[in-house]
Amino acid sequence: MSEVTNTEQQQVWNGWLGEHWVEHPDRYDGLVEGYNALILDAAGVGASSHVLDVGCGTGQLTREAAARAVDGSATGVDISARMVAAAEERARGLANVSFEEADAQVHPFPREGYDAVVSRGGVMFFDDHVCAFANFGRGLRRGGRLAFLVPGAAEPDGEYARATAALRPHMAKPSPTTRRMMSLGSRDVVHGLLSASGFRDTDIERVESVAVLGADPVDAADFVCGQGMVRSCLEGLDDATRHRVREELVEGLTAFHTADGVRVGDSGWLVSAVRV
Ligand SMILES: C[S@@+](CC[C@H](N)C(=O)[O-])C[C@H]1O[C@@H](n2cnc3c(N)ncnc32)[C@H](O)[C@@H]1O
Repeated sequence: MSEVTNTEQQQVWNGWLGEHWVEHPDRYDGLVEGYNALILDAAGVGASSHVLDVGCGTGQLTREAAARAVDGSATGVDISARMVAAAEERARGLANVSFEEADAQVHPFPREGYDAVVSRGGVMFFDDHVCAFANFGRGLRRGGRLAFLVPGAAEPDGEYARATAALRPHMAKPSPTTRRMMSLGSRDVVHGLLSASGFRDTDIERVESVAVLGADPVDAADFVCGQGMVRSCLEGLDDATRHRVREELVEGLTAFHTADGVRVGDSGWLVSAVRV
């Protein structure tokens, strides 16, 4: 693996946070897969594209990029060895997909080696965003497109917030990841970042999808409570309180139970820009 500067993120994504992710990759994909086509469209991924997926996790978006880029390729990079191992396993047999364990902030990407750079929630966690975007930007050819999804400004009345309202009073414990999760949730910050790191024509669009949390409310509550950030917040509660919170969570999720599972409306920001 090349040099790493985001050592704290490397630890959490290799540890307690990444652990649940690699145990339940389909469940995590089910939260955000509705955005995949939008991201690939915004990045202009076509049959001959060579695509870089930053913070690829277990690699669903990388695989979909590769499926479009039939005469090209898709490369996923991630700082977590566990995520990369899971991504490789899930892409076994696909000829034009590869993965690399790397800190995207400092990894020496091939200069102008890609036609498009994409990310689905993998670019919020850098110590130095300008340095990171400039770094993977150098891997993008001039005129190539960057497109990524990030959580936008918080929507306290959104469906996810309503479905999981029982958790909210207990989610105060900051972690290195929760702090960074919303780091690009300001339009001014995103515009400033992209112009400072060598991109032009920045566009920020609010996009919507549906997140599938589970087959039924109990299954969904199990999944939500197992997620690293939720689990670490609930761990500090006494047994009776934890039990009550979980019961209230199941009740909140019941309102979103359909014949196709527990489905909540979700939104994010689709950001796109062009390499100068
Ligand atoms: C929220 S997850 C998203 C994963 C994947 N893109 C998806 O949609 O399933 C964020 C990912 O970014 C990765 N990550 C965080 N910091 C990184 C860095 N500096 N370089 C590369 N990957 C990083 C984490 O290991 C994690 O897999």
